[in-house]
Amino acid sequence: MHYLRICCGLLALLNLNSFASDLNIQSYNRSATSLNGNWSYIVDPYDNGFYNYRYEAFDQQDAPSKNAFFTDSKPQSPSDLIEYDFDKADQLQVPGDWNTQKEKLYYYEGSIWYRKKFDAPSTHKEERTFLYFGAVNYSADIYLNGKKLGTHVGGFTPFQFDVSGKLLPKDNSLILRVNNNRHADAVPTLNTDWWNYGGITREVKLFVTPKLFIRDYQLQLDSASSKTISGKVYLEGAKGGEKITLRLPELNIQQTLRADNNGIATFTLAATAAELWSPASPKLYSVELRAGKDKITDQIGLRTIRTSGKQLLLNDKPIFLRGISVHEEYSAEGGGRVRNAQEAKKLLEWAKSLNANMVRLAHYPHSEDMVRLADQMGILVWSEVPVYWTIAWKNPKTYNNAEAQLSAMIERDKNRAAIIIWSLANETPVSTLRTEFLTRLAHKARSLDSTRLLSAAMEKHYRSDNANIAVVEDPLAEVVDLVSFNQYIGWYDGLPEKADQVRWEIAYNKPVFISEFGGGARQGYHGTTDQIFTEEFQEVLYQRSVKMIDKIDGLVGTSPWILADFRSPRRQLSGIQDDYNRKGLLSEKGTPKKAFYVLKKYYDYKQDIYEKKYTVQEADMRNAPKQDTAKQDIAKKDPPQ
Ligand code: GCU
Repeated sequence: MHYLRICCGLLALLNLNSFASDLNIQSYNRSATSLNGNWSYIVDPYDNGFYNYRYEAFDQQDAPSKNAFFTDSKPQSPSDLIEYDFDKADQLQVPGDWNTQKEKLYYYEGSIWYRKKFDAPSTHKEERTFLYFGAVNYSADIYLNGKKLGTHVGGFTPFQFDVSGKLLPKDNSLILRVNNNRHADAVPTLNTDWWNYGGITREVKLFVTPKLFIRDYQLQLDSASSKTISGKVYLEGAKGGEKITLRLPELNIQQTLRADNNGIATFTLAATAAELWSPASPKLYSVELRAGKDKITDQIGLRTIRTSGKQLLLNDKPIFLRGISVHEEYSAEGGGRVRNAQEAKKLLEWAKSLNANMVRLAHYPHSEDMVRLADQMGILVWSEVPVYWTIAWKNPKTYNNAEAQLSAMIERDKNRAAIIIWSLANETPVSTLRTEFLTRLAHKARSLDSTRLLSAAMEKHYRSDNANIAVVEDPLAEVVDLVSFNQYIGWYDGLPEKADQVRWEIAYNKPVFISEFGGGARQGYHGTTDQIFTEEFQEVLYQRSVKMIDKIDGLVGTSPWILADFRSPRRQLSGIQDDYNRKGLLSEKGTPKKAFYVLKKYYDYKQDIYEKKYTVQEADMRNAPKQDTAKQDIAKKDPPQ
């Protein structure tokens, strides 16, 4: 290991401005040069532009041949044999998946080369320039002016490269080999129930910073009662001792910090006048940081989230999560993977129309736009990494991949008040290897962020001596903060009336959350309540499911599957599914199905109970000794049908 570190050090020295591509830089609010728009593309199912006919990678050769697509070569003479030409190639929109842009790419899985030509932003000698990608699914090899910048694996998290000194003033050639092939040892693995959208699916930009700049920061409320704020600022290019100014103008807070030798400064300060962030009042405060010539601003909400026994407490008050699961897909206007903030907002508005105060962003980190909109709109968030179904638990590469995606997710979004839960996995089969893998991930998550709750979508089974008693018994439930599970009583497990019989036993002194339930219906397809895929069948399933789950001791919320119909290659029933999973409460166009109103009515009822009851008692709680409040039970009334 020591020998390896020396090598890396030497390499880094050689490459003056090497910068770990996945080291987080908060760049959302930095001014930038967008590289979005039309990119030329070449479909390359045989990776002909990446390997020679001996299947040796061109980018591993000292002098790669012109046949390597990343050289972006042009014939130098009439007889020069170059068998590709980006200038004559067709175009794809970035950001965007390729599957919904070109009919011929609808089912395509493999490599596609993207090329963008651009002029460099003007910079001063001392400044640094970064090339940033919001997400590329699934792996990317990135080349600039014929030289390899690096690779990235994982389709849902950002990465960037330091390209200082590597840019030409004009006509830079940026080329990516994007590949979305599925692999058994990947994360996610071979089998998922969502469309494997390929491409440069989120924004691409260049941003410039001074030599000394604010790379990252973390700021959160430590306690709702004392209203103390603490955090850290990470400088890049620091030698130690640099002055940093932290301001929250609205709270008349101005603090001077000093960076240590690693360029890090920590702080704790009182914000007694702060208004706490909550769905009812999603208050965001402007935060301004300055160091040297650099300045960065952000909007951050202040809130606390914790559990107490079986209760979930937001700002020390019990809360019920009126949730809905959401895929990052918006196909109402011809697209697939969400392409921009407007489409993300549409999905959140659809969730709000359900009277939801929470979304489970399934099964992978959604865009930064999505979580920042949730901050602004007052929607709580469950954010998840795609450790989905049966991945290669034994494979260290798979673990490193999962951990890298988890870290990137937490690092990018750690300042978002809306996010209260990090989810480690979905429906993973209980085994020692699996539980060890996920427990390691849990430790990693807690080491990066100790202010949020951990969970995972686990599974239920029935007591061996009584098929009407459903239980959740999973060693992972000991590790996480919320006992969450998916259950499909009435769809994959019996018919809707089964819900009337089933009782639940969940033997953990932790809050219980149902991360999925539901059933399919084709919007506009009507019939009798026992006719599967009709709106009437789905409606009854929801009526019975809501009644059943509302009786579960310690239930603090649910996120039914799912807000809107979404594409899945596993849904091939013609005339009903047609490549769509039809469990949405809305069609893919946003048209409500009957079950939509069942859930809305339940959420109106829950909101009523939680908000009305606690308004009255709030005074009592403030006066009552602290520990008593958490034990207070909410009167149980039957939910409306
Ligand atoms: C699973 C899974 C989802 C899937 C859903 C379904 O529980 O978590 O990704 O789409 O069930 O079968 O519809």
